[in-house]
Amino acid sequence: MKNYTSIKDIENIHNWITEAKKVKANPLANKNLGKNKTLGLLFFNSSLRTRLSTQKAALNLGMEPIVMNVSGDAWGIEFEDGTEMNGNTAEHIKEAAAVVSQYCDVIAVRAFPTLTDKEKDESEQVLNSFVKYASVPIVSMESATGHPLQGLTDALTIAENSLKKKPKVVLSWAPHIKALPHAVANSFTQAMQKMDVEFVIANPEGYDLSKEITKDTPIYHNQAQAFKDADFIYAKNWSSYESYGQLLDVNDNWTITKDKIGDAKFMHCLPVRRNVVVEDAVLDSKNSLVIEQANNRTYAAQLVLKKILENL
Ligand code: CP
Repeated sequence: MKNYTSIKDIENIHNWITEAKKVKANPLANKNLGKNKTLGLLFFNSSLRTRLSTQKAALNLGMEPIVMNVSGDAWGIEFEDGTEMNGNTAEHIKEAAAVVSQYCDVIAVRAFPTLTDKEKDESEQVLNSFVKYASVPIVSMESATGHPLQGLTDALTIAENSLKKKPKVVLSWAPHIKALPHAVANSFTQAMQKMDVEFVIANPEGYDLSKEITKDTPIYHNQAQAFKDADFIYAKNWSSYESYGQLLDVNDNWTITKDKIGDAKFMHCLPVRRNVVVEDAVLDSKNSLVIEQANNRTYAAQLVLKKILENL
């Protein structure tokens, strides 16, 4: 594997989950694979889990991680071609990506969407510019439209915690105070579509994800109906896709509560706003998998880096 930028890069998710479980059982088994190799982590946006778990994954493989907060600390990067650069950007992605490729054997990038320009966000300008102009493999640490390391993590967590051959998994929209990206919901949907699960999505009217992502996945606009007989409930907020990046008025209460989920396992990628997205009683219960999910971020990242290192 050269790049990991989408759930589509996973050829067989069942094989990948088996491999991820092996990595988790013995995380230092390939300690020499990344010897004398450098992983560059470039953050255009904030992070706790991705930043630390991807570094931990690199260290488990013997790689040296180096991290940069690009937005705060680097020169402003220009991504448009042919621009007269007399504004706020000081260097072009053509030079920036080529230069970083000389320091790093693999580059991981986090760059969120604008949520104001759908076309630009869907073009994945930042991630695809790194793919185009870097000479080393690129890993997405969440881009405008996808969070494939999180999606792989979530698939692993469901596989580990499932008591049934074909569990019912619900992705539920939940409230938030800000307009958030679609990336986590998109990658979770794509991952579930590859799994042997009964998968449905619940969201209010006006919040359907892109049809390109949901395809024939059933979508409920009634949360209670969607939650019936659920084994896993994955909560996430996202802004409207149809009214792109907008927060719409929602009449019903979509906060996840203990009463609503019953015995289902609760999942969320974190960070989560308590008592907005989900009530304390769910997060503090034995049915919450959120800490286990965050732990699995390391092993998902480690599996991806292992596959890239084996192909260098
Ligand atoms: N889930 C996730 O990507 O967390 P961070 O934004 O903290 O990296």
